[in-house]
Amino acid sequence: MKKKIFADEFSSSHTQGKTIYVDDIAPVVGEVHLYPVLSTIAKGKVADFDLTQVETDPNFINFFSAKDIKDNAWGPMIADQPFFANKIQYYGEIIGLIAAKTPASSRQLAKKVKVEYQEAKPILSIQEAIKKKSFLCDTISFISPKKYKNNIDDVGIVGEFHIGGQEHFYLETQAARVTYSEGNHLKIESSTQHPTEVQHICSKMTNIPYSQITVEVNKLGGGFGGKESQASHIAALCALASVKLQKTCRLILDRDEDFQITGKRHPFYHKYKIIVSPAGQIRHLKVDMYSDGGAYLDLSLPILQRGMFHVDNCYYIPHYEINGRIAKTNKVSNTAFRGFGGPQGAALIEMLMERIGQHLELDPYQVRQINLYQKNKLTTPYGQKIKHNFLPEIFSDLAKKSAYQSQRKKIKKLNSDPTSEWLYGMSMTGTKFGISFTAKFLNQGNALINILPDGTMQASTGAIEMGQGVSHKIRKILSDYWGLTPERIFMLKTNTEKNANTSATAASSGTDINASAALIASEKIKNRLMDLYYSVSLLRKKELMDESKLKKCPKDKVKKIKFANNTVQGLGKLVISFQELTSMAYMNRVSLCDYGHYKTEKIWFDDKTKRGNPFLYYSTGAVNTVVKINKFTGEIKVQEAKILMDLGRPVDEKIDRGQIMGAYIQAQGWVTTEELIHRPDGFLATHSPTTYKIPNIQDIPRKFSVDFFPNETNTANVAKSKAVGEPPFLLGTSVYTAIMDALHCGKKNELSLPFTGENILDHLS
Ligand code: MTE
Ligand code: HPA
Ligand code: MOS
Repeated sequence: MKKKIFADEFSSSHTQGKTIYVDDIAPVVGEVHLYPVLSTIAKGKVADFDLTQVETDPNFINFFSAKDIKDNAWGPMIADQPFFANKIQYYGEIIGLIAAKTPASSRQLAKKVKVEYQEAKPILSIQEAIKKKSFLCDTISFISPKKYKNNIDDVGIVGEFHIGGQEHFYLETQAARVTYSEGNHLKIESSTQHPTEVQHICSKMTNIPYSQITVEVNKLGGGFGGKESQASHIAALCALASVKLQKTCRLILDRDEDFQITGKRHPFYHKYKIIVSPAGQIRHLKVDMYSDGGAYLDLSLPILQRGMFHVDNCYYIPHYEINGRIAKTNKVSNTAFRGFGGPQGAALIEMLMERIGQHLELDPYQVRQINLYQKNKLTTPYGQKIKHNFLPEIFSDLAKKSAYQSQRKKIKKLNSDPTSEWLYGMSMTGTKFGISFTAKFLNQGNALINILPDGTMQASTGAIEMGQGVSHKIRKILSDYWGLTPERIFMLKTNTEKNANTSATAASSGTDINASAALIASEKIKNRLMDLYYSVSLLRKKELMDESKLKKCPKDKVKKIKFANNTVQGLGKLVISFQELTSMAYMNRVSLCDYGHYKTEKIWFDDKTKRGNPFLYYSTGAVNTVVKINKFTGEIKVQEAKILMDLGRPVDEKIDRGQIMGAYIQAQGWVTTEELIHRPDGFLATHSPTTYKIPNIQDIPRKFSVDFFPNETNTANVAKSKAVGEPPFLLGTSVYTAIMDALHCGKKNELSLPFTGENILDHLS
């Protein structure tokens, strides 16, 4: 091919800082800037707005509130949230919206709106909610079919485990821009993981049908679950103003406000009793698990359910009673965050493994080993039988790779030195993350493939690129399938006009679902191109200029045709370049475009019996973490983290490595320094980088390695690969359990996560 192709590297431009975020889009003349007015109480009523200081401002355009909308309710599952609150449920809830001529004036004017309130007393913790019977759902239970009968040598351990929330801290804050055009059409540019839901919620807000709303998403500066449902609210406010004013409007949240008013990872509170044998084998687990849903339901139900689906993590639990319930508190409505409740479930059992080890004076590694899912012990508490289970191999391989036994001895020796200012700890934990959306209907996706007569290709799917590399991975899978060099494939922006009725890019399944759909579309075109290639092979000349000579390629010949090195070959000596073949197709009216729809097969769950096969497969892995703790300051350092992940046949090891390390570090922050503290009036006191500490480059493991466990068995998924986005987040828990090991605090009945410096010092004193 002579013509040089300059492809826009959709994913790599992202890492080079070239992405145009919503707020980087150049404003049109007269564009309106919006900013929300936020409640300054956590519970009560808005009695009145006073706009006297606002309306006289030359930059003021308009003010919107609940009175401006008929149907003041939205939500991703049930519409229980107001777009504008009259009855306030949390500090920082959106009660009004300022439209102004400049970004700065919109922010200033929003703060100048005077609000008169009738105040009530808020509920700010799960414990308080339990006491006041304030819940967002009834109790959900997974109960083992066979009741546990006590044994005389039972060892019972009871306790409580408090798990904190987490701020997403995406670099790009929530943002939307809406262009109103003739014919009552809205074009919405949104920083969302879920364009289809933005379309639906904006329709609800404006009463404009879905068909007249287009949502386009370029790339996100991070989502991490925080833009799965909650981007829709911001977009809807923007849509309202745009329709009312018939102008282009944008709404970009500042960091501090985004921090205060958007949902976080759910805090959890577990009350448990575990019964084990004297050797540490789990016999029975009873846990009452409460999540802090905040004020509204949002995605709390599937998040709680995923929490319950992951209390087993890598370990077989023969008898169980797992009860889950969502507390309703006067805090922001908590939402999806990497792991989607899974980490809060898995952290419980990993903490228990450590406690059991310390109670029985066994190495917790040994306790984990005997409890791992293994032969004849492969059924989860929700009835799914694990296929192709390599957990025992992964753990033992990693123990070897990380020289577990000799490191254990070394740590013992180091800790026996009373003059040292450091205490060392080590822990090996695992992850077994179920892949599929737990709501079955979300496990579908579609793709559009356009092949152009110069031998290049456009691919478009419902997947959102948010830094995880999904567009690169889809492109790589297409490139392998078509035998085309990747620069021939151009990934188009996600847009509801090309891909409608999509699911959020979430549940780690972005590549699984969208690459599968792209291959289904590709196969349809490939079949037509094989007919064409076969037809040419029957002619003497290497061209086909007469449509009537087009023949169907017989099955035995299909097997021989190869798409490789930007060519098509395999029948005799005929080699046709992809460009030649595609241009021939165009000239002979053979369609070069197609559409594919994919749905995940064989997944189901019976809500009555709480049993089924909710996951297509599991992504698994393990990590060995070594920490040291300063005895005087409580400071922790992660000395070493060695990870072994089973990602089937990884689509791209480099991308996956980035995801694994990123997830581990993000989880390390969750279990150590990231703490959300509310004032008694419900205001989030830790709402900026000065008071809320995410890991920085100095906090990451000093020695950090990722290896892949070879596994070719995952034929259930595209290209035998496995999803990577969330599963390794669960590995960060090992930082917590390694600290438990160092502090030897497993005999205490009440523990809390994160291990901040203060929390650690409490255990040391
Ligand atoms: N990686 C980056 N860089 N940025 C993100 O926002 N989100 C995570 C994970 N990795 C995220 C990320 C979450 S919560 C999910 S569900 C997956 O990516 C979503 O993308 P995928 O399905 O393509 O893996
Ligand atoms: N994961 C992420 N997002 C979701 C899920 C899930 O399992 N279910 C509904 N939204
Ligand atoms: Mo991820 S929490 O499923 O967006």
